[in-house]
Amino acid sequence: MDVGRRRPSGRGAARDDTGDDWGLVTALVRTLWPYARRHRRLLTLALAAMVGEVVTALLSPWPLKFVFDSVLFVKGGGQHLRPHLGSHGVVLLVVIAAAALAIALFDALFTYVDDRSTEVVAQRSIYELRKDLFSHLQRLSVAFHQHADTRVGDLLARLSGDIQTLQDLASDGVSNLITNGMTLVTMVAVMLVLNWKLAFVSVALTAPLVVVLRTATLRMRLALRQARKQEGRVSAVLQESLTAIKLVQAYGREDYEEARVDTESSRSLAASLEAAVLQARLTPAVTILSTVATMGVTAYGVVLVVDRSITPGELLVFLGYLRGMQSPVKQLAKLAYQVGRATAGMERLNETFAEVPTVVELAGALPLSPVRGHIAFEHVTFGYVDAQPVLRDLSLEAHRGQVVAIVGNTGAGKSTLLSLLPRFYDPWDGLVTIDGVDVRDVTLASLRAQISLVLQDSLIFRSTIRENIAYGRPDASDDEIEAAAEAAGVGAIAARLELGYDTVVSERGSSLSGGEKQCIGIARAILKDAPIVLLDEPTSSMDSFTERLVMEGLEHLMEGRTAFVIAHRLATVRHADLVAVIRDGGVVELGPPAELLAGDTIFAELARTQALLGEPPRERPRRVSQAGHRRRS
Ligand SMILES: Nc1ncnc2c1ncn2[C@@H]1O[C@H](COP(=O)(O)OP(=O)(O)OP(=O)(O)O)[C@@H](O)[C@H]1O
Ligand SMILES: [Mg+2]
Repeated sequence: MDVGRRRPSGRGAARDDTGDDWGLVTALVRTLWPYARRHRRLLTLALAAMVGEVVTALLSPWPLKFVFDSVLFVKGGGQHLRPHLGSHGVVLLVVIAAAALAIALFDALFTYVDDRSTEVVAQRSIYELRKDLFSHLQRLSVAFHQHADTRVGDLLARLSGDIQTLQDLASDGVSNLITNGMTLVTMVAVMLVLNWKLAFVSVALTAPLVVVLRTATLRMRLALRQARKQEGRVSAVLQESLTAIKLVQAYGREDYEEARVDTESSRSLAASLEAAVLQARLTPAVTILSTVATMGVTAYGVVLVVDRSITPGELLVFLGYLRGMQSPVKQLAKLAYQVGRATAGMERLNETFAEVPTVVELAGALPLSPVRGHIAFEHVTFGYVDAQPVLRDLSLEAHRGQVVAIVGNTGAGKSTLLSLLPRFYDPWDGLVTIDGVDVRDVTLASLRAQISLVLQDSLIFRSTIRENIAYGRPDASDDEIEAAAEAAGVGAIAARLELGYDTVVSERGSSLSGGEKQCIGIARAILKDAPIVLLDEPTSSMDSFTERLVMEGLEHLMEGRTAFVIAHRLATVRHADLVAVIRDGGVVELGPPAELLAGDTIFAELARTQALLGEPPRERPRRVSQAGHRRRS
């Protein structure tokens, strides 16, 4: 059985080749299409506007052609300059000017409709994509989130920067690609109809431009991909340093952290600069090459005009189209930059989307029926790293209503054992059952709904104390919340605060002490009122007075429920029905606390050490601080 182990992921397996353009474009479309297709009407509108833009682009040189061929020159045995303008000429001029204005107006209208609709589709699609990515991340197993390779900062970069690259591309890149592509093709077609020789020369002279652009964009894409990856690392380092700011300042490692950020940033800078330099070099190259092409076509065109193969007006159309062709080619260069960034971003997004939860719900899993409370770990083997089990063939049982205390050295695997019950992880081998039902056979939501959990490090959201307590039961009434709070000792904390339960406690709980956070965590569990209770050192950071108060609340919570309590301190363990001592991945001692205390056991030894240390040890620092206070005053 391999369900508990992390699937060898695609991480780091991203392709480093440049890939073929077509493959990349189709991959991009495949990523974006499921979102864009929800806006079919807007997309159709945008596409219609794009066709309109192409038509206006094709028409735009024609008014000038008619000015030349029909107003300035008149036919009659070749072309001659019109001897005098006359009313006919004036009317023609006015009509042509009106036509030019109409073309410009339509162009403006189409561009507006196109920009607006594509922007709306792009923004909405990206909004949905980000929502989906976050939802996907939330559902990935704890094994993914706690894996050594997973860095929160990097995930944030994926949710922000990488998604932004796709938005940039979708906003104007896609529309550019379509309009410019169509313009290019249709212009070449019209040129072929007008004069195939000149058309051929125009295309031939534009070709070097395309070759130069293509070479540059391939190199640019490599650099951009490197830059995106590196930006993920920068974000990760920033996040880690800022989260540990107290540690950084306490040990005076600000310079070191700055250097660390600097190393990663400068790598990202180098890659981005490389792409920028390539992009910058491209512009003058394109200008020179397009001038050469224009001059070449002009020269050959003049020969054709003198030969009377084409009219001067037609030459103007050719030159107009040549400019028209070069502008899409230049646009496509800019697009290549966007595509480069977006492909790198997309690869990173797809890498995350490809992660699958390791803890999965069986197809057809049924909700767990109301729990009576018999819990068993049967021959459980589990670890975080292959071939290094933390728990080995461990068996432990709690009957309905029993409180089982779990005792063991730091790192013995106590928290690990409890994390198997709500299926944060699945065991490699063996079973975890509730009332005889394998936890893997029931739905995750129903399983977790039956468990009240107090984590070893209490987590607090930035919101009011009230909302923090009601996190697991947002519909709880104020009375229920306050009753749970009182039982967990939060009442006394809230009483000290001006706004009481409506005080906003900050992110990561930094405005609360460790013990206060624990009290809130316990109140949250009490309010959830689930039949199974898991407490991971619930009172470890409290003074013994608060602890005694909270223990009463906890005993009340555990009454009639099956509970597992991890504790180092005997005060917490004394009232348990059973004590299980964990060592070397297994249960080495099991029995009622009094019985174990009476024998020659590890537990008794532990109890003696604590007695020698003089339980409770937490009051000493308090006296010191009072003394300090007195000295100051
Ligand atoms: N996410 C993880 N990835 C890899 N190893 C882990 C992970 N979590 C815990 N471990 C390892 O598993 C072992 C057991 O950890 P666990 O947290 O269960 O110990 P514990 O008994 O709860 O200790 P403590 O009393 O300090 O809380 C430790 O050696 C620890 O390094
Ligand atoms: Mg632990």
